[in-house]
Amino acid sequence: MSKKTIIITGGSGKAGVWLVKHFIEQGYEVINLDWKLPDEPLCRTIITDLNDLGQVHNALAPFSGTNRSQVEGIVHFAAIPQAYTHTNDVCFRNNVMNTYNVLEAAANLGIQKVVLASSESSYGMVFASEYFAPQYLPVDEAHPQLPEDSYGLSKVVNEVTAEAFHRRTGMQVISFRLGNILIPESYATIQAKFADTEGRKRILWSYIDARDVASACRLAIEKDGLGVQALILAADDTSSDRGTQELVAAHLAQVTDIRVPLEGRISLLSNAKIKQVLGWEQQIYFMDQL
Ligand SMILES: NC(=O)c1ccc[n+]([C@@H]2O[C@H](COP(=O)([O-])OP(=O)(O)OC[C@H]3O[C@@H](n4cnc5c(N)ncnc54)[C@H](O)[C@@H]3O)[C@@H](O)[C@H]2O)c1
Repeated sequence: MSKKTIIITGGSGKAGVWLVKHFIEQGYEVINLDWKLPDEPLCRTIITDLNDLGQVHNALAPFSGTNRSQVEGIVHFAAIPQAYTHTNDVCFRNNVMNTYNVLEAAANLGIQKVVLASSESSYGMVFASEYFAPQYLPVDEAHPQLPEDSYGLSKVVNEVTAEAFHRRTGMQVISFRLGNILIPESYATIQAKFADTEGRKRILWSYIDARDVASACRLAIEKDGLGVQALILAADDTSSDRGTQELVAAHLAQVTDIRVPLEGRISLLSNAKIKQVLGWEQQIYFMDQL
């Protein structure tokens, strides 16, 4: 029996490498579409500029058509992953057009399932020129998305683009609003700055290990009937050594609408919905990695 095939975009990047590893470990044939090669080749990479729809079609065509039952879906992580490293228009154009192209090609080639990397930055606080606090805590999927930066805006647009393609073809598209993605070498760096509790306030001290991102992506591809949804993907706990109550009292005292008891180091990004929809469970906990 031939292996199941998964397409990963951005598989040469920080999170993507861990997605590639996970899907290979789970028995998938992985094809990476990225405009740069990974440091270590783990699977076939097709150098592709995802801003060019012709290239996206050309890269995907051999895995679709008569062979399309072999393609389980596309996990699309390629992006400029933050605001202000590039000019605003470049970030917006790259992130919005490469996502549009992936969805357009998937629709045209009959690929039925796509996962998108959205972000907690879509809520707007992370890159706002003047910080504003969440309207309530923990932030959940219903919290307004209010970006002023082109990165956060690109993620909001991509979630709306996903809805349009779902309407067009019925394809399943799950957008993960990701907390700060950590890889094994990230933990010591954050630990060294535990005393600077202000430092990770804008991301609500959130984190999610890339290995836990990978398992959620696989569930979103393997499950059927999910339609189009945006789900927060964040750890149960924070990346701070302080209690969450203490962090909120020190840095977010203006937020009066607190919707769960702030026990221990509980996360301020709610992952209740992803657990309910995907049955996803966190495996990698911050303090165990130190
Ligand atoms: N790193 C985080 O903490 C974080 C948090 C929330 C969301 N995200 C999202 O997760 C995804 C992965 O983030 P990351 O930190 O691994 O980023 P990264 O920059 O390490 O990896 C992104 C990869 O995408 C590729 N890429 C970008 N634009 C491309 C294009 N047009 N065509 C082909 N390849 C292209 C890059 O070459 C790179 O290998 C991104 O969508 C990012 O917005 C990241």
